[in-house]
Formats: sequence, structure tokens, C-alpha cells
Amino acid sequence: MERNSVGKAPRQPRLEDDSYADYLTQVRNFAIRDWFPQIAGQLVADASAAGLPDAGASCDYAELAPVVDAMPAANSWKRVMRSQQRMTWDKSFESYNRDRQHWIDLLDRAEQNFPGRLHRDESLVVPDSACENIHLQPGGYCRDELAGFVFHHGTNVFYQGDNNHDELHDLYADMLRQPADGKLNRIADLGCSIGQCTTALKARHPDAEIWGLDIGLPLLRYAHLRATELGSEVHFQHALAEATPFEDNSVDAVFAYILFHEVPSFSFEEIVAEVRRILRPGGTFTVIDAPNGTSFPAPNRMWLAFDAQYNCEPYSPAFVATDFKGLLESQQFEQIEQGPTPTFLSMTTAVKPE
Ligand SMILES: C[S@@+](CC[C@H](N)C(=O)[O-])C[C@H]1O[C@@H](n2cnc3c(N)ncnc32)[C@H](O)[C@@H]1O
Repeated sequence: MERNSVGKAPRQPRLEDDSYADYLTQVRNFAIRDWFPQIAGQLVADASAAGLPDAGASCDYAELAPVVDAMPAANSWKRVMRSQQRMTWDKSFESYNRDRQHWIDLLDRAEQNFPGRLHRDESLVVPDSACENIHLQPGGYCRDELAGFVFHHGTNVFYQGDNNHDELHDLYADMLRQPADGKLNRIADLGCSIGQCTTALKARHPDAEIWGLDIGLPLLRYAHLRATELGSEVHFQHALAEATPFEDNSVDAVFAYILFHEVPSFSFEEIVAEVRRILRPGGTFTVIDAPNGTSFPAPNRMWLAFDAQYNCEPYSPAFVATDFKGLLESQQFEQIEQGPTPTFLSMTTAVKPE
């Protein structure tokens, strides 16, 4: 029933499901690598011709939107991107739903055979804000027991076929800011999803206790199963990043890869305050996420607006507009550094004062 893996990515239950995912990966590759640059060039030209300052980089988006809407190619691109996303989830769900109980049994067996590594919190109430169908995934991160299996396949398509070996998670785990004294006894990976950074961090820091924390229990159950199959001894905790079970000053480094743009803006400050509470003096905070700012090239703004409106990324515009560095400063973090990563994401790191 299990059809082995490609690197660290399991194949889907049937060959035809994998073939379909390959096809959708190619559709996505074409839309992003070949088609989008043409649309981007046209949009910049049209925005300039419409008299928008900075070719539409800094005006109110309401002024740029009519220029985008007047471009048939931009509207077709959005349709293709949305359809490809929906088709990816639908096929993966169909694939796993065929033998639903088998996959649930696998999750249960991993919990029985490797106890003490997946930490549930029966009293935890998952807020509605975390139950959106983010990226159009049916049931979101919390409401379907097979969400972890489906998320893994869906994100492999999202990563355009370039992450079968967790290459991107390895890249980002390498960016963890080390405390100046070099002591790394405990690392927390907030919003860990299926634990790809969690296991990557463990591979880099084998003597440290690594905790992946997430609000989506189905994702964590899959993360746990996956970690056991990879032989990675990591812990997973079902909790809100705003209210972790860690004691004050008990964590050496906190890592958050693409968590913040998926939480509502009222949570930004609460999460940063919680990180400050659990970090020990000299501990580090590494955030890899969407860039912050008020001025972006018009094509990036078009993509962001598409994601928010048609790809169920309701919170991301607020994170992009947030002064995240200022937020860290207001919570007394210091030595704040911000910079690019090899992808479109940005990195922000900070240190809790001694
Ligand atoms: C884009 S995913 C993160 C990807 C992941 N870090 C990785 O390595 O692939 C965002 C994750 O944040 C989780 N999440 C959302 N709100 C949260 C919260 N308030 N506390 C903890 N996790 C949260 C979601 O369940 C989801 O798994």
C-alpha cells in the first residue's frame, strides 16, 4: 500500500496520483517560471503608462488593481494558479480517502510505538482563526485527520518539485541564529507543520532537544509518524505559539519558518512576547517569512493580492505591512538583523538581552 519514497517524500498511494501531481507541478512551474515574468513586465509597463508612481510599487493597491484587472493574461494566470491549487488538494484527498482507515491506523501505531514524543493538550481550544482553509486546503490544518499526508503532497507541488529531500527546510534550518555563547540545549520550532524544519534542526544539532509546535494536531500526528520513520528523535507539542508550555528562560533558540504571515495580526505581539518569555537571556529568535514593507514591485503586489483574495491567505497582507523590526524592538529584543534569503522570503533574527 505504501509505495516507498522519493527522497524524504513518500509517493502517493497510486502511481496515477503521482503522475497527476507531476502534471500539476509542471503547470505550476510554467505559470511561475515562464508565464509570470511576461505578465510582470507587462504590468510594470501598464502601471507606468497609467501614471502610477514607481510603476505601481507604492500607491494604494486600489489604484493598481484596475490595471491588473484590465490584463487578460493576469486574470488567466490567477485562474490557472487557483485551479492548480484546488486540483492538487482534491486529488491528494481522493487518493488518501480511498483507504482512510489504513492511514489513520499508521498515525495511531506511531503514537503507540513511540510514546512520549507527541505531546497532546486535551484542554487546548483551537481558535477559529487557525481553522481557515489556508491555501484552499480542504479542512485546513486542523479539521481532517489526514491533513498531514495531504499537506505533504500539496506542498511538494507548491515547492515545484524541488523539495523531495526537504532541501528548502535544510536551507532554512542552516540559517538558525546561534547564541553567542554557542549553547543550544533546547530549540523550539514554532508553526512546525509536518516537522520538516524540526527534523532538519535535529540533524544539525543532534545533542539538542528539539521541539516542533503547532496548532494543527493532524499535522503533528503526521510529523511524528514521519520523524519516527526518519529515525529523528524530536518532540512535537500541540499548542498555540502564543501560549507554549515552556517555562520562562528555558529555550536557547526559537525558530519560526513562515508562521507569522498565517496568523491574524492580533497574534503578532502575543507570539513575540511569548518568545521573549521562553528564551533565556542571550537566546536567539530566527524568523523566516514574507518580507515586510510598504513598497514592493507591482507584480509582487499583484501576487500578494491574489494570494489573499483567491488562495485563502487572509492574514498575509497585514504581516507584510507590519513593522516587524519595530515590534521586536518594542519587546526589548536587541541585535536585530534583517536580510534576504535565497528565495523571495526574508530573514529576521534577534537576541534576548542578557
Ligand atoms: C505555512 S505553515 C508553516 C510551515 C512549516 N514551518 C514548515 O517547516 O514547513 C504555518 C503553520 O503554522 C501553524 N499555526 C497557525 N497558527 C498558529 C498558532 N497560533 N500557533 C501555532 N501554530 C500555528 C499552522 O497550523 C501551520 O502548520
